[in-house]
Amino acid sequence: MGGRSVDREGLVARLRAGLRPDQVTATPADRAVYSYDATWTEGWPDVVVHAESTADVAFVLRVAQDLTVPVVPRGGGTGLAGGSVPVGGGICLNLVRMNRILAIDPADGVAVVQPGVITYDLQRAVEAWGLFYPPDPASLYMSTIGGNVATNAGGPRCLKYGVTRDYVLGLEVVLPGGEVLRLGGRVMKDVSAYDLKQLFIGSEGTLGVITEVTVRLLPRPPALGAMAVAFDRLEAAGEAVVALLGAGVLPLMIELMDRGVMRAVEAFRPCGLPVTAEALLLVAADGEATAVREALARMQASMAAHGGRLVRIANNAEEAEILWEARRNISPAIGRMAPYKFSEDITVPRSRIPEMIRQIQQISHKTEVPILIYGHIGDGNLHPTLLCDRRDPEAMTRIANAAAQIFETALNLGGVLSGEHGIGLLKRDFLFQAFPATTLEKLLAVKFLFDPKGIMNPGKKLPLPRGWV
Ligand code: LAC
Ligand code: ZN
Repeated sequence: MGGRSVDREGLVARLRAGLRPDQVTATPADRAVYSYDATWTEGWPDVVVHAESTADVAFVLRVAQDLTVPVVPRGGGTGLAGGSVPVGGGICLNLVRMNRILAIDPADGVAVVQPGVITYDLQRAVEAWGLFYPPDPASLYMSTIGGNVATNAGGPRCLKYGVTRDYVLGLEVVLPGGEVLRLGGRVMKDVSAYDLKQLFIGSEGTLGVITEVTVRLLPRPPALGAMAVAFDRLEAAGEAVVALLGAGVLPLMIELMDRGVMRAVEAFRPCGLPVTAEALLLVAADGEATAVREALARMQASMAAHGGRLVRIANNAEEAEILWEARRNISPAIGRMAPYKFSEDITVPRSRIPEMIRQIQQISHKTEVPILIYGHIGDGNLHPTLLCDRRDPEAMTRIANAAAQIFETALNLGGVLSGEHGIGLLKRDFLFQAFPATTLEKLLAVKFLFDPKGIMNPGKKLPLPRGWV
């Protein structure tokens, strides 16, 4: 697929034959609105379809298969790798109207949701039942569960609780051609077949379209505490994290902000971050109240031994909210500093965190590209962020070079290209470095098993087979 031009009028006519007029739009304004995500990549779809049911999705995938037209599924559009940008045109399949929570079942410990449910809305809804849905991508007020599953989204709390994948028990997916598969279900254990749902989790819309998700829920932890600890040296913060993780406590999260990031957040929404320090760690614990107090005391002592200075302590969820707000403001705050930013999400084994930080600093120095560092340092998942302006080709070349060096360093340290944002469009070229040819062949074989015509989100996630865009 790819490179072919689409007969837009014919396509729109076919789609309108099975959907209401307001569900199919091809005006330039609407196509522009669905041409981007949270990166600088851009590509106009030929038509935007607003699906409202599994049947709608099946209809669209029948038409698309018939006409060999690309389909790019879309949720909140908050992606950081270009995954939902329709670079090859075709159909933008918008799923945000499928936003119903179908069931919350405390007995089975699950919720069943449509893909367009906003992550935060699911969290709030289950909390009202005393339940807990842990994955918390920073985009949670805007991103959708379908998008979270499609990218296997992470977030701060994943240090303790695991990523989206660890909470998906069942999926309904629609394949190219319109066939509907139900994979997994409400059970906590299931070894009765190849676990096909796992292939769809993190598949970035390249295999089919997720139309229903059954997630696992936990009891809501009764207490939460958090603290902000400052370090004079960034690398010392990295070393403190390694020591802390070996200290016999499992924090809810350990988040890092370097000085540049703190300054950006203070300029955006001031909240008293210690901008003279080189680094700040936000550390939290949850569970029973006494256990939380003990964990915080142990964590504070462990970090103090590595030069950490307590800046603020939060003894409950309301107080901690101020710290979370500062953390969630990082992306928008940095976003104001340059026209575009490339937020990487390399992940290294925890013991290699200090070395990764050291090397990022060296890369920044050598390439003269300012690199801000923040991220989920406790699970080795850092967001080195490169500010850029794509109208300046010389700077873009230096930035691409710095980004490539960061990827290479992460791989050399036993890490991966992407811990939570996905490969999308932006990291595709590095797959050849990350995987041997045999692995790449198997990935492509899986792709063509589900999507023989290559219509699902072509050009994303995988290396390009011959003949693609
Ligand atoms: C965050 C996004 C960038 O953690 O993953 O803020
Ligand atoms: Zn992140």
